[in-house]
Amino acid sequence: MPTSVVLGTGHCVPERIVTNDDLARLFDTSDAWIRERTGIEQRRWVPDEGGTGGSDLATEAARTALQAAGLGPADVDMIVYATLSPDHFFPGDGCFLQAKLDVPAGVPALDVRNQCSGFLYGLAVTDSFIRSGSYQHVLLVGAEVHSTGLDRSNLGRDVTVLFGDGAAAVVLGANDSGDGRGILATELHADGRHAKVLWTDAPSCVDRGRMTVEQIQARRHFAEMSGRRVFKHAIECMPAALHSVLGKCGLAVADIDLLITHQANLRICEAVQKQLGLRDDQVFNNIMRYGNTTAASIPLALDECVRAGRIRRGSIVAFASFGAGFTWGAAVLRW
Ligand code: COA
Repeated sequence: MPTSVVLGTGHCVPERIVTNDDLARLFDTSDAWIRERTGIEQRRWVPDEGGTGGSDLATEAARTALQAAGLGPADVDMIVYATLSPDHFFPGDGCFLQAKLDVPAGVPALDVRNQCSGFLYGLAVTDSFIRSGSYQHVLLVGAEVHSTGLDRSNLGRDVTVLFGDGAAAVVLGANDSGDGRGILATELHADGRHAKVLWTDAPSCVDRGRMTVEQIQARRHFAEMSGRRVFKHAIECMPAALHSVLGKCGLAVADIDLLITHQANLRICEAVQKQLGLRDDQVFNNIMRYGNTTAASIPLALDECVRAGRIRRGSIVAFASFGAGFTWGAAVLRW
């Protein structure tokens, strides 16, 4: 049975940098509060005049990943696209990406809606398709444009300071060589009892017309979050998932060469690192520069590590995520 190996990575973020001081000009917050609570120093936002969707960022990220893999759009035989901020209500962004990137007609495009765990859900699905022999080259993308949906008033400040825009892509391919490289194990979880701890109510198919004036007035189209509950569950679930996924492939925490956790809050990443007893050189964080880019965060960090030469052939690379749903998961690869 083939394994799934990463053939190329890429990312794309908007040029516009939004600092904490920029946010402090929009609502009551401060650089000191945001840094201390979240570790975030800046994030990227698409232009306010509009016109840039996640699929535009994803297209650039995918081009870079394909180039790194030595492949072209015609080599892609499946697209898996993870996002919580699709360009439009429907169809899914996978189809928009397919058209913009010129991936041949007929190639399937699957959209994954698992928020901050979207990349890992997509990775597990991709791995299954590749191991079953269904597809040879899968383009897996995580992309978000959050900035158009952030409440830029005092009422939304707890959420707005956290999120940024960005996209990242990974090309995965079948490895039949038996050299032990590839995805070793994945693990996915959800607990829908917490679905409304971090969510956006509107637009909503349970309401006639899907979006009412009352909903907009009540700001139901902006994300709502109980930050403390998210924090508490994240630092419990990610270490547990990592221990479990490592156990599945006979590895221990000490075998990890590089851990990339979902970049939700630097304090969460540091708490996970501490619980696992990992050294600083075994982890990578870039939330300081991008904020929480949700489905894009793990592949964006991965691409930066690849380009910085932090991953060598044979390295054990682990991922863990936690986010809205609640959903969480982990994966381990031999690079
Ligand atoms: N700037 C300044 N003050 C802010 C603020 C902001 N951006 N956002 C909230 N506050 C205020 C609150 O109003 C509150 O004031 P009060 O004490 O007068 O009521 C105070 O800061 C503390 O709020 P609280 O929500 O208890 O802070 P916290 O220490 O829990 O930090 C988060 C808030 C959001 C940073 C933190 O809970 C967190 O990061 N949680 C995880 C969220 C996350 O990762 N979400 C994405 C998951 S994928």
